[in-house]
Amino acid sequence: MTILVTGATGFIGSHFCVQALQQGLDVLLLDNLENSSLKVLDAIEQVTGVKPNFIEADLRDKSQLTQIFSVNKIDSVVHFAGYKAVGESATNPLMYYRNNVAGSINLLEVMKEQAVHKLVFSSSATVYGEPVFNPYTEEHRKLPFNPYGQTKSMMEDMMADLCKSDSQFSMVALRYFNPIGAHPSGKLGEDPKGIPNNLMPYITKVAVGELAELGVFGDDYDTVDGTGVRDYIHVMDLAEGHVKAIEYLNNHKGYEAINLGAGHGYSVLQLVKAFEDVNQVKIPYVIKPRREGDLAAYWADATKAEKLLGWTTQLTINDMVRDSWAWQSRNPKGYN
Ligand code: NAD
Ligand code: UD1
Repeated sequence: MTILVTGATGFIGSHFCVQALQQGLDVLLLDNLENSSLKVLDAIEQVTGVKPNFIEADLRDKSQLTQIFSVNKIDSVVHFAGYKAVGESATNPLMYYRNNVAGSINLLEVMKEQAVHKLVFSSSATVYGEPVFNPYTEEHRKLPFNPYGQTKSMMEDMMADLCKSDSQFSMVALRYFNPIGAHPSGKLGEDPKGIPNNLMPYITKVAVGELAELGVFGDDYDTVDGTGVRDYIHVMDLAEGHVKAIEYLNNHKGYEAINLGAGHGYSVLQLVKAFEDVNQVKIPYVIKPRREGDLAAYWADATKAEKLLGWTTQLTINDMVRDSWAWQSRNPKGYN
């Protein structure tokens, strides 16, 4: 039975497709290529030995989706497609609601119309907002404070309501913490357009000489060394979490939100040091003011994922910095 993967040529989707193909799952890749490249398909083929089935389509076009569902035997959906830049979501909120919410409604409607009942969705720890306690459990109240986070929370609510309205549905929202790393082959990785917003791609662009130095956003937080603390998770561990979530959906009905994180945090400077030590590359940095909207520290309580999915992270911070660098150093210009 076919698993439709939306956003399949993006950073996380592509790593999931590798993992799924290597475990013999039948995946149909869908992307509009707005934020990714067709070259990802070659990389997936090189790593897995399987030529992936790919459809170029946009979730905002419901008729395209209906057509895809009517000609393919789709059994479940893993939904990665969407926009993810927090700052951009604040300056252009409607673009985010249109793509991440209206696009997702199209997908849910077509799934309902075509009796496809199983969905895994890419949510984010950003739905929790300011931590009332750390680590975040799934019961922590949701209070996102930017439009991107709102779109994730709204989609979660729609999934929960749909599952309540019809007991045939089984859906999981996976709340990712901070995915970094790359496929260990160095053939697939993160390839953001322009100057990266996120820490790890910024570090690798400094390492490769494209950017002069890293700006560290604040060194006066109440953390181990004053810099922000996050729960970094290797993208291959994250990909495996989705495989486990599909197995779970095959045997359970209803809706669940599940954290995918390592269960502990590292500071910005700890990540920089790990990168320098493992890869023997110097990362010059300067301390800058705090970035607006940043939180001091948060990490996951990942016990629900272990209990329901039988999943825990296997890879370490050293694996993450090694694989991120293997990707960037072999592909200084990303997929181009
Ligand atoms: P990405 O931008 O690399 O991948 C998203 C893919 O979706 C891209 O290939 C893009 O072309 C495609 N896409 C966007 N809109 C589309 C549409 N309307 N129709 C078809 N395709 C469309 O992002 P990613 O890092 O792989 O993230 C995947 C998902 O995980 C996103 O939903 C993101 O919000 C979520 N997420 C990511 C992170 C992270 O740190 N990367 C953290 C939490 C949650
Ligand atoms: C960001 C988003 C979050 C989203 C996640 C994954 C913001 C405010 N939050 O999380 O909603 O789910 O990406 O897409 O954008 N840092 C630096 N210098 C840099 C970049 C980052 O010091 O150049 C620091 C940040 O202050 C933070 C840490 O590194 O402490 C991680 O930042 P980042 O990788 O951007 O992720 P988040 O902010 O956690």
